[in-house]
Amino acid sequence: MEPKNIKKIGVLTSGGDSPGMNAAIRAAVRAGFYYGLEMYGIYRGYEGMIQNDIKKLDSKNITHVLERGGTFLKSARSEEFRTPEGRKKAYDNLMSHGIDALVVIGGDGSLTGAHLFYQEYGIPAIGLPGTIDNDLSGTDLTIGFDTACNTAIEAIDKIRDTATSHDRLFFVEVMGRDAGFIAINAGIGSAAAAILIPERKTPIETLVEKLKTRTKAKKSSNIVIVAEGGKSGSAQEIADKVKKHLPYYDIKVTILGHLQRGGAPTSFDRLLASKLGVAAVEGLMQGKYDVMAGMINNKIVYTPIVKAIVDDKEVDDEDLRVANILST
Ligand code: F6P
Repeated sequence: MEPKNIKKIGVLTSGGDSPGMNAAIRAAVRAGFYYGLEMYGIYRGYEGMIQNDIKKLDSKNITHVLERGGTFLKSARSEEFRTPEGRKKAYDNLMSHGIDALVVIGGDGSLTGAHLFYQEYGIPAIGLPGTIDNDLSGTDLTIGFDTACNTAIEAIDKIRDTATSHDRLFFVEVMGRDAGFIAINAGIGSAAAAILIPERKTPIETLVEKLKTRTKAKKSSNIVIVAEGGKSGSAQEIADKVKKHLPYYDIKVTILGHLQRGGAPTSFDRLLASKLGVAAVEGLMQGKYDVMAGMINNKIVYTPIVKAIVDDKEVDDEDLRVANILST
């Protein structure tokens, strides 16, 4: 597409926050300044766009944000932006500031918003994959996933200490909505006895057999990682079922929850966010619209937003095979 003459770019973060979002905002804004553009912060995602919570950014706004978790632009899940009336208000507000392009940092819902907006109003937009869930195609990893896995592993290590002291069986529930990527990485990285993910159904009998085998092998602690949203149920539901089969086990359940969404981004997430933030602004200047900038095999790749959100990112069977070998 022939590039438009973009002068003012609005940046927003939307949906569930993820560590590294600040680094991505900072990189996009710095890149914008480098190319002589005006940069605007749209606060609280699409909600702020509808309510005209939009401010011109200067370099002070992005000082000391790279290393901080969360998003200084704040985030929200906007119901109103799903309606044509909401999007019209948002468009009018953007026009009142003269904003002629957008960088949208978020997960699939946020990128869907950017796509719809481009279709309806022709506002050039580039999405950046900002979610701990890693459930977007068009990038090997999403911004925040690595930090979330490290946070989960650190927490599970602590649970391991107490589990071993008491010979207990723990069920630890991790986030991921309906994707098992955090569960698989955190599970392999913390020597889990089993990993239950939404993408694969694990019959309770299979899990029980595995735990029995480990008991025979005199394992002093067992930690089962359960991804939220799994077909086999929540960590508590699975624990209750297992208890019926193995009444002699002292069972505890821990839900890691939003702990996984906070914290300073890892070096990996800082680097990924920084490279993608620059790629977003450069992509817009080159006329790449309605696409998501991602990193595949260490190279920047622009994928149509529709493809990034519709193509399900598959869990790697090789990871599951390795997890199985290491837990027997
Ligand atoms: O998409 C990120 C995520 O943290 C999911 O893993 C989780 O299911 C969801 O957001 C929780 O959303 P909320 O913070 O709105 O409860």
